[in-house]
Amino acid sequence: MLDLFADEAPWEEPLAEGAIILRRFAREEAPTLMAAVHRLARQAPFRHMVTPGGHTMSVAMTNCGMLGWSTNQHGYVYSPQDSLTGKHWPQIPTEFNAVCARASVAAGYPDFEPDACLINRYAQGTKLSLHQDKDEPNLRQPIVSVSLGLPAIFQFGGLKRSGPLKRVMLEHGDVVVWGGVSRLFYHGILPLKPGFHPLTDQFRYNLTFRKAS
Ligand code: SIN
Ligand code: FE2
Repeated sequence: MLDLFADEAPWEEPLAEGAIILRRFAREEAPTLMAAVHRLARQAPFRHMVTPGGHTMSVAMTNCGMLGWSTNQHGYVYSPQDSLTGKHWPQIPTEFNAVCARASVAAGYPDFEPDACLINRYAQGTKLSLHQDKDEPNLRQPIVSVSLGLPAIFQFGGLKRSGPLKRVMLEHGDVVVWGGVSRLFYHGILPLKPGFHPLTDQFRYNLTFRKAS
């Protein structure tokens, strides 16, 4: 794939109050991050979770950290154990923590201390419907989201699901950070277009760091 931006330095793009896109921010460490994703997936495999409403999610997910996000019949929960393996979620790899810390500082949230990292894997046609990240008790802490591999269109709205949406393309190495006023803003991912990325094949991966305790 011809990469017109390969040599370009990262740049910042404001998204909303409290929210910023750090373009290409994680590009250099992306191979290390992906190696860690594959390592983690051997301990805590990607799976399609079932929503409380009975829908199987098209995005495949796994977690690392003290707590991991998952679904059950009653709702959405953070728990220390992976219900698939019965084991604790693997620790957040140091490479993950390093990029998250760098991004938090760059975005103006230097005190962010994540204890959960959700890893999403999108295949062709996979989407994530509009939602709020509201299962975390401490809403003063932001969300840090790292995009790897194939590009996808990210929708970012406001506090109401029906409000106007911004649509931005998130590409390999882009990091989005939202907190403060925009911490509970609705967001989602439109269906992934087919493609091939040298580092991630036919997939897009996303790491979202949260403080879940
Ligand atoms: C999420 O909202 O949890 C993930 C967003 C993304 O995949 O970029
Ligand atoms: Fe989210």
